[in-house]
Amino acid sequence: MIYSRIIGTGSYLPEQLMTNADFEKLIDTTDQWIVERTGIKVRHVAAENELTSDLAVAAARRALEAANVVPANIDLVIVGTTTPDRVFPSTACIVQAKLGIANASPAFDVQAVCSGFIYALATANNFIKAGQARTALVIGAETLSRITDYTDRTNCILWGDGAGAVVLTASEEPGIISTHIHADGRYQDLLYVDGGPSMGNGEKAAMRMQGNAVFKMAVNTLDAIVDETLAANGMEKSDIDWLVPHQANIRIIQATGKKLGLPPERVVVTVDQHGNTSAASIPLAFDTAVRDGRIKRGQTLLMEAFGGGFTWGSALVKY
Ligand code: UT7
Repeated sequence: MIYSRIIGTGSYLPEQLMTNADFEKLIDTTDQWIVERTGIKVRHVAAENELTSDLAVAAARRALEAANVVPANIDLVIVGTTTPDRVFPSTACIVQAKLGIANASPAFDVQAVCSGFIYALATANNFIKAGQARTALVIGAETLSRITDYTDRTNCILWGDGAGAVVLTASEEPGIISTHIHADGRYQDLLYVDGGPSMGNGEKAAMRMQGNAVFKMAVNTLDAIVDETLAANGMEKSDIDWLVPHQANIRIIQATGKKLGLPPERVVVTVDQHGNTSAASIPLAFDTAVRDGRIKRGQTLLMEAFGGGFTWGSALVKY
């Protein structure tokens, strides 16, 4: 039996910061409201000439270095993103070229908004388990600042730019224990971008959200995915060492941590430092906790995400 295992992590945040004080100057809001309702203190914003693929490449280089893998040995690149450089080629193809991977192996994007990293990880895991790839680069990367309406105070305070990456390789032992991905397209009106190439107004498109309705759906759906993931593996809550959640809102993260019966110190939280970076947020949080020594080899992690689509999913990982 072939499994896949994570052998390296990396992340990248652009230099430019946008603090809550910056938002106080832009819109009718306060640092206190933002911190209390979201947990966010600061976001990173890509420079004018910095594209999603640049963020992705920076995170990928760090993951490759940590994994001690040279780009030429990567035989699959998947990028989870909602903010591709261009409509085409895919950001994954651009990343493949920028990294100098010239072995004609597949490269493609996965569009599942905030669940993009979980979808990408699930896909790469299945490629490796099927013997169709050996060493995969799985990236979540976003420049959400490019689709944010900075006059819409109900959601502009949430979003940030960034990227995270993992290197997955074939292994005789798991690794990725299981992945679970879902979608329900009936809820598009609650969270969407109000334009795109086919609608003919792509340049002006921005995110729109009925925040409170999305919040409630997110909490309930993530509760259910925790149960589904544990049941599928015959595991108890106490078998989980770490929750590595999508970083959307501290209150959603805390609700899932509580559901798992985990103390706050076993829940990786980075939302305060970069806001909601959609597909990038899980690998950003994961890399942070690996590099600061909190997450150790042999520990069991539950990753989960919920986002536009709606899409949602989880990955149970032995690190
Ligand atoms: O990652 C993909 C999934 N996305 C999410 O998971 C995000 C889910 N939603 C959320 O995180 C939260 O719903 C928000 C942070 C967006 C909003 O928090 P909330 O506690 O749901 O607030 P609300 O929308 O119910 O609004 C409460 C009040 C309203 O005032 P009234 O009607 O009670 O007088 C809003 O007008 O807060 C007001 N408000 C603000 N006040 C200060 C809304 N935005 C702001 C703001 N600053 N930026």
